[in-house]
Amino acid sequence: MNSTDTAKAPKGLFIKTYGCQMNVYDSERMRDVLRPLGYAPVDGPEQADLVVVNTCHIREKATEKVYSELGQLKKMKEASGGRMTIAVAGCVAQAEGEELIRRQPAVDLVLGPQSYHKLPEMIARASRAVGDRLETEFETLEKFDALPRERNADGPTAFLSVQEGCDKFCTFCVVPYTRGAEMSRRVDDIVMEARSLAAQGVREISLLGQNVNAYHGAAPAMDGGEDWTLGQLCRHVARIGGIDRIRYTTSHPRDMDDDLIAAHGDTQEMMPFLHLPVQSGSDRVLDAMNRGHTAADFHAIIAKVRAARPDIALASDFIVGFPGETDADFDATMDLVRATGFAIAYSFKYSPRPGTPAAELPRQVPEEVKNQRLQALQALLRDQQTAFNAEQAGKTLDVLVTGKGRMAGQMHGRSPYQQAVHFVGPQDLIGRIATVRIVGSSLNSLTGELVSAHEAVA
Ligand code: 5AD
Ligand code: SF4
Repeated sequence: MNSTDTAKAPKGLFIKTYGCQMNVYDSERMRDVLRPLGYAPVDGPEQADLVVVNTCHIREKATEKVYSELGQLKKMKEASGGRMTIAVAGCVAQAEGEELIRRQPAVDLVLGPQSYHKLPEMIARASRAVGDRLETEFETLEKFDALPRERNADGPTAFLSVQEGCDKFCTFCVVPYTRGAEMSRRVDDIVMEARSLAAQGVREISLLGQNVNAYHGAAPAMDGGEDWTLGQLCRHVARIGGIDRIRYTTSHPRDMDDDLIAAHGDTQEMMPFLHLPVQSGSDRVLDAMNRGHTAADFHAIIAKVRAARPDIALASDFIVGFPGETDADFDATMDLVRATGFAIAYSFKYSPRPGTPAAELPRQVPEEVKNQRLQALQALLRDQQTAFNAEQAGKTLDVLVTGKGRMAGQMHGRSPYQQAVHFVGPQDLIGRIATVRIVGSSLNSLTGELVSAHEAVA
């Protein structure tokens, strides 16, 4: 077999089940959730890449029996050159916990009956830890797993990819499996690309990453070579000549650190816009989603961000109809939206991605209910977006002019808050920042009158 064939071959899974009917059922479920990660059953532990010992505590000496079984597996693991992953599940795992790994270090994973839904996450983490790539069968849906496509500079705005992948394992999401472990580009490489974009006339850079504020790229050696945070990176890119505007997307509430928040207040190139997906306003749902934050955490972050930059425009993502979402849970999402006030937000009906833990959850929400909730949420978000745009009327805003508008003589650009702005003006404004007085607004754009234009950069 050549190496390409090996990479595509399914990984061998052997589950040894002890005890009751419940364990038999759990073993089947484990087999199901592992299939999309490329695991297929094999006849014996010798051929397996992953062995799960699903234990039972009911009979006397059960624990000792498990340790002796694990002793055997350890030898096979050694014979496999360490390729085999050993997981212990079931009641002994529950009772012994981490003690199992202390007594038998060949064990890679211990999971109690309450954590089977985390098995894909644990396996993905374990295989990443040994540098393995999982050959997943996740159906990817571009919308959820792709970043906005990178563009070469073909105007005054450009995307610059700084980070890829995700380690968060939200239970609805394919990204941690399909895009792999979180990885940050080196600061030097990013700065080189940013300089080249600036030289091509780019004035606004959007730093991109699936989890962009988890950024932790290696800094230049002359700066100590330690990892930098996104806040440090933004401040640095802001100093590049010609770069007047910096944005970043997409962030996670858990990585919204104080320095990044402070940068919004003290670095004028940081645009007053934050896309911070929250997904739900219900703590119960957030927990089931494995988000690692509560609604109160989100409110606390927003309060800090607003203290640093009072006029910031907030954006977010929401999922309605996550399995088990009740009317009360959905009301909590509506409450969070009302309490926050968004400039724009994206909302989705929960869609089960085969193989992700949430797809296996009971109490999937009926389609009609998802539709009703989505309509209600989107109506509220539309009202907020219209109101946010209307608030700009009468203000004078800096508009980065990106091109010609649809009507004759009209130009098109973006406000600091990311809104589309149309106004009448000369074509040589393209690529420059114009001062525009806003005279009208709608759901999707602003209209204005040209006041003056900033000097073009040399
Ligand atoms: N169902 C519905 N929405 C999803 N998203 C990601 N996965 C799913 C899914 N299975 C949404 C989240 C995320 C955005 C990019 O896509 O809201 O923030
Ligand atoms: Fe997916 Fe984002 Fe959650 Fe990562 S943080 S698992 S990319 S939704």
